[in-house]
Amino acid sequence: MSSVSHAQAPIELEPDAHEELRRRIVNRGHCAIVGLQWGDEGKGKIVDLLTRDYDVVVRYNGGANAGHSVVVANERYALHLIPSGILYPEKTNVVANGVVVDPAQMIAEIDGLRDRGIEIGDNLRLSDRAHLVMPYHKLQDGLMEQALSRARGDNQKIGTTGRGIGPCYADKAQRATGIRAGALLDPDRFRRKVAEVVAIKNVLLEALARSCDEPYEQIDAGALADEYLGYADRLGGHICDSTRLLHDAMSGGQRLLFEGANATLLDIDHGTYPFVTSSNCSSLGVHTGAGIPGHCVRSIVGIVKAYQTRVGGGPMVTELKDETGDRIREAGREYGTTTGRPRRCGWLDLVAIRYSAEVSGATSIALMLLDVLSGFDRLKICVGYRHQGRKLDGFPSDAGVLAGAEPIYDEVEGFAEPVCACRRFDELPEAARSYVRYIEKFVGVPVQIISVGPRRDQTIVRQEETRAK
Ligand code: GDP
Ligand code: IMO
Ligand code: MG
Repeated sequence: MSSVSHAQAPIELEPDAHEELRRRIVNRGHCAIVGLQWGDEGKGKIVDLLTRDYDVVVRYNGGANAGHSVVVANERYALHLIPSGILYPEKTNVVANGVVVDPAQMIAEIDGLRDRGIEIGDNLRLSDRAHLVMPYHKLQDGLMEQALSRARGDNQKIGTTGRGIGPCYADKAQRATGIRAGALLDPDRFRRKVAEVVAIKNVLLEALARSCDEPYEQIDAGALADEYLGYADRLGGHICDSTRLLHDAMSGGQRLLFEGANATLLDIDHGTYPFVTSSNCSSLGVHTGAGIPGHCVRSIVGIVKAYQTRVGGGPMVTELKDETGDRIREAGREYGTTTGRPRRCGWLDLVAIRYSAEVSGATSIALMLLDVLSGFDRLKICVGYRHQGRKLDGFPSDAGVLAGAEPIYDEVEGFAEPVCACRRFDELPEAARSYVRYIEKFVGVPVQIISVGPRRDQTIVRQEETRAK
C-alpha cells in the first residue's frame, strides 16, 4: 500500500507534545477545527496534525472554494473538497451532506492524489444528500458578480471564488432546482431532473447574460446529464448515507474530527454579510452539515493566524494597504490556494476573533504563522473599534458599520529572532510569549497550539505550566 506515511518519513511532533495534544484536545471527544478569521488560517495543517488520533475526518460545509494546504515530508498538498485526513491511509474521510460537490473537481483531486501515491477507495465517502455543483452554477456565479457590480455602478463585488458555491446553495434552498449526489445513482431519474432544471436555468441565465452584454449558449440537458453520469461511474462507489455512517461510527466508539472550510467571519448567518460565503462555516454548521447533534462535539479548536488576512471584498478594519501589509504578504506567502489571488493583510483583530470564538464556542486556540511576524520592531493589536467618533461595543452585525469603523490599537514589542526552529514555549522570545498570552487573555480561550512553520514538526504544544507563568 503506498501513501505518504510510507514514503519519505515526515518529521513528526515530539512524543511529549503529542501526549499533551491528546490530554488537552483529543480526550475531550469529537472535535471541530474551525477558522476564526476570514479563512486561510492554516486549518489544513491542524487537521493533518490531529488526524492520527481520530478515526473519521469530516468536511461539513462549503465546497471547492476552500483551499487547504498541507505539508508532509516537504511535499505540499492542496486539498479543496477532499478532507485533509486523506493523507493517512487508515482513516475514513467523509464529505458530508452540508458540502456542495463539484464532481469534476472531486475526480481531478482524487486523480491528482493517486498520482502522488495516495490510496483512495473505501476511505473516501460522499453523502448522498450533498448537493451537486453544476456548470450553470459557476456561470451564474460569474454573471451575478458582473450584474451586481453593474447595478451598483461602483465595481464592488463579493469577490467570490467563482466555484458556483452561492448559486448551488441557493438552489438547495430553492428546492425545485437543487440536485443531490444521491440522484446520480438512478440514471433515468437523474436525466429527468437535469432536463427540468436546465429548462428553468436556460430562461433565467439567458436573461442575466443579456443584461451583462455576455453571449449565452443554451445548455443541452442531455449532454449535461451524460457528462454527470460519466462522473457517477467514478464516484458512485463512494456515495452513501453519511449521516448513518457517522452515527454508526460514534456508536462504535470511533472519534470524529470535523474539518471546517472557510471561516466564522465568512459564515452566512454570523459573518460579515453579504461579504460571506453561503454556508454555516462556523462550528455551528457541523450539526446541520453532518447530521450530528450539538452536544456531541466537545472540543472546538479555533484556528487563528497571528495577523489578519482576507480574500475578496468586504470590510477589514485592520487592513494595511502599505509596505507593512506587503511585507506580511510576502513573509506569509499570502496568495490564495484556490484562486492565487493576493490576500489582503493587516494587524491581528482581537475584537473580531473574540466574537468568532464566542460564536463558534472555541475551547482552545491554535495560533498559526507566528514565524511570519519575526523581525517587526513593534506589533499592533486591534482591541476596539471606533465608529463616527464613538467606541463600538463589540463586533457589529452590519457590514456597513464595520466598513466605517476605525481600529483602536494597542502596540506591543515585536521579536527580532526567527522562531521557526522553536519547539517549546519557553524557547520563544519573551515578546512572542507575551503576544500569545495577550491573545488568550483578551479572547478568554487558551492558546494550546502555536505553529511556527508549515511542517508538522514546526509546532509548539503548550504544556500546562507555561500558561500559568
Ligand atoms: P486553510 O485554508 O485554513 O487550510 O489555510 P491555507 O492552507 O489556505 O493557508 C495557510 C498557509 O500557511 C498554507 O500555505 C500553509 O502551508 C501555511 N502554514 C500553515 N501554518 C504555518 C505556519 O505556522 N507558518 C508558516 N510560515 N506557514 C504556515
Ligand atoms: P479556506 O477553507 C478564504 C471568500 C471568497 C469571497 C467569499 C465568497 O481555504 O479558508 P464564495 O466563492 O465562497 O462564494 O466566495 O468568501 N472565501 C474564502 N476566503 N479562504 C476560504 O476558504 C474561502 N472560501 C470562501 O474569497 O470573498
Ligand atoms: Mg485556504
